[in-house]
Amino acid sequence: MIELKNLHKRLGGRDILKGLSVKVPKGMNFVLMGPSGTGKSVTLKHVIGIFKPDLGSVHVDGQDVPAMDRKQLMALRKRMGYLFQNGALINWLSVADNVALPLKEHSQLSRSEVDDRVHEVLKLVGMDHAGKQEPPEISGGMKLRAGLARALVTNPEYVLYDEPNAGLDPIISEQIHELIGEVRDRLSVTGLIVTHSRACATQCGDRIGILEAGKLAVEGSVDEITASDHPLARAFMGQGSD
Ligand SMILES: Nc1ncnc2c1ncn2[C@@H]1O[C@H](COP(=O)(O)OP(=O)(O)OP(=O)(O)O)[C@@H](O)[C@H]1O
Ligand SMILES: [Mg+2]
Repeated sequence: MIELKNLHKRLGGRDILKGLSVKVPKGMNFVLMGPSGTGKSVTLKHVIGIFKPDLGSVHVDGQDVPAMDRKQLMALRKRMGYLFQNGALINWLSVADNVALPLKEHSQLSRSEVDDRVHEVLKLVGMDHAGKQEPPEISGGMKLRAGLARALVTNPEYVLYDEPNAGLDPIISEQIHELIGEVRDRLSVTGLIVTHSRACATQCGDRIGILEAGKLAVEGSVDEITASDHPLARAFMGQGSD
């Protein structure tokens, strides 16, 4: 379980998080929504220890993340994949070499074991034909798939998805949402998904929390938030939102 309690964080002279609490039980996809600049990406960065809270706590399976030393953080990041916005691939490495990066950081696998695992995970996301290509040659949807493969390559228990469908058309987005649902159902991965998209929340989410003014303004199951008349729930999940 990921458990954020009463998180406070000040950045660039502004209070970004002001008492944020979120619980993500194992096996679920928790969707974090909220207006731009409210601290959704900052929240994800607390979960893997890039940021430490000024006040409050971050626990993963009962382990205190801000208290971890470098070695413990490396171990945590092996158990936790991170899908960056737009895939965040390194342009001068092939897709396969991008996907292999976390394995090189986190494991002592041989070259052929790395190659096998990369091939396996590229196949999982429907990209096994594209390992030799370089990021500038591939489409946005393919970049996201490659980013997802990289997030999954260490066989993580958790994946943090930062806007997994930003800039994608509705058809490709739906394929990505299906994939995120499969990752939960077939690989038993627990997900924390940041998105603005109602389609994403309904197609692959279980619970939704909407962040405003540094904490969750509203939280509930996808059905509860869809039916809620809270103004933010209407804005993000109501008819006419996309
Ligand atoms: N390292 C940093 N130093 C200073 N300010 C930062 C830093 N990182 C983030 N911020 C600020 O924190 C605020 C929240 O940023 P964050 O990236 O979490 O927003 P967000 O909710 O993810 O928005 P978006 O939906 O646009 O991605 C922003 O005002 C941003 O400028
Ligand atoms: Mg963001």
